[in-house]
Amino acid sequence: MARHDLLINGATIVNAWGRQVADVLVDGESISGIVKPGTGASARRTIDADGRVLLPGLVDTHCHHRDPGFTHKEDATTATRAAAAGGVTTTFAMPNVSPPPKDTATLASMIDHYRRVAVVDWNINAAATDPDQIEPLARMGIAGFKIYMVADTGRDYPHMPGLGVHDHGELLRIFRLVERTGLPLMVHVHDQSIMDVIEQSYWDRGERDYRAYARAYAEHDGIVWEAALAVVLRIQQSIGTRLHVLHTQTEGMVDQIRAAKAQGRDVTSEINPWALFLGNDWDTVERLGSYALSFWVPPKHADSLWGGMRDGTIDLVATDHAPHLAEEKEPGWEDGWAAHTGTPSLEFYGPLLLDAARSGLMTLEDVVRLTSTRPAEVFGLRRKGRIEAGRDADLVLVDPDRSWVISDDRVHSKCGWTPYAGRRVVGAIDTTILRGQVVYDDGEVTAEPGSGRMATPS
Ligand code: DOR
Ligand code: ZN
Repeated sequence: MARHDLLINGATIVNAWGRQVADVLVDGESISGIVKPGTGASARRTIDADGRVLLPGLVDTHCHHRDPGFTHKEDATTATRAAAAGGVTTTFAMPNVSPPPKDTATLASMIDHYRRVAVVDWNINAAATDPDQIEPLARMGIAGFKIYMVADTGRDYPHMPGLGVHDHGELLRIFRLVERTGLPLMVHVHDQSIMDVIEQSYWDRGERDYRAYARAYAEHDGIVWEAALAVVLRIQQSIGTRLHVLHTQTEGMVDQIRAAKAQGRDVTSEINPWALFLGNDWDTVERLGSYALSFWVPPKHADSLWGGMRDGTIDLVATDHAPHLAEEKEPGWEDGWAAHTGTPSLEFYGPLLLDAARSGLMTLEDVVRLTSTRPAEVFGLRRKGRIEAGRDADLVLVDPDRSWVISDDRVHSKCGWTPYAGRRVVGAIDTTILRGQVVYDDGEVTAEPGSGRMATPS
């Protein structure tokens, strides 16, 4: 009988379409078979799943690695180590780094760097801000482009000058050019001129703390997000670009996306963990101030967001992992606009979602669809996203019953803290396997820099 490289014995394998108890066989970098338990396959290495759950490796298409330029917060190695610890086997870097990957020379040097230092598979979302560079960038193996419609006021990071695109004609030009590449265009929707007026009214009243910041972004039921989304959806309708909406967080956004999808348009969307587990609770905002902001998501939106995830209007969960140092968050108690915005989540969103599944908010199959299968499909990663013969052996062994408390001392991210500290969750990541190799096991990242490879669309 053939001797396989790896056998995972008796796991409950969960795919987006259902679950089964089976043995998984791995040869080289790929899954070579899924067989009835105890069929007698022999392997060089065996992992006994003992009733645990096996998921396809998480694919996080929106992650701030901060490399190059802001490596005091995070770098490509620490981000991809944190990914391994979180069950994430593919992570896409975001372009608000310095210099930003908006031209081929900069992207080429980032790719070269990632080849040497990344621990899990990766790609880099290029900035679509230079019209002449869009087509050549698309030929370098990227999976998508990113546009920010936001500009920082009161701080100069994470939305630094030159990165934001506010002008609607400029957006139209970019949508046309990206459409020709066939790649998705990720858009952080945000109406800067509406925000300028909202912010000014808070400042005129002398309101500048983290509470004012939280309320300003949620003002008029999320008009800042929804007005911008209406514009980009209208542009998408005419141009046909594959639009991927980032930061879905209001009922109105879900409704707009659902209507566009009902017309059969090429529109997909993400939600981020902070909208589900952090900024959704005012008590948490009061307790943690800017450490809990990303954005405040008033509770009235919750049913729409969970419903949108269950019915597929929201295609995927991506972390928007936004590591900042504590000293960059601390000013937010006095001045919410001075604190660097965003929250880290890469290592803990898997367990938070497992816990949500356990409490009945969705099924484990939904978790797999949202964290692995759909992200792989939306960005064309044909070797990722499913536990099935022929795919990459990217696997996460999970203990669905273990109750544990998230804490800062488990953080692999360079920022060294998590806004989820103190939370008890049921569901833990035991082992992460990348293309057949164990990259994380029992609290330790076991892979070396350079084990990751560029995950390109096909
Ligand atoms: O809150 C955010 N933080 N939103 C973004 O768009 C960027 C992110 C970051 O880079 O920290
Ligand atoms: Zn982001």
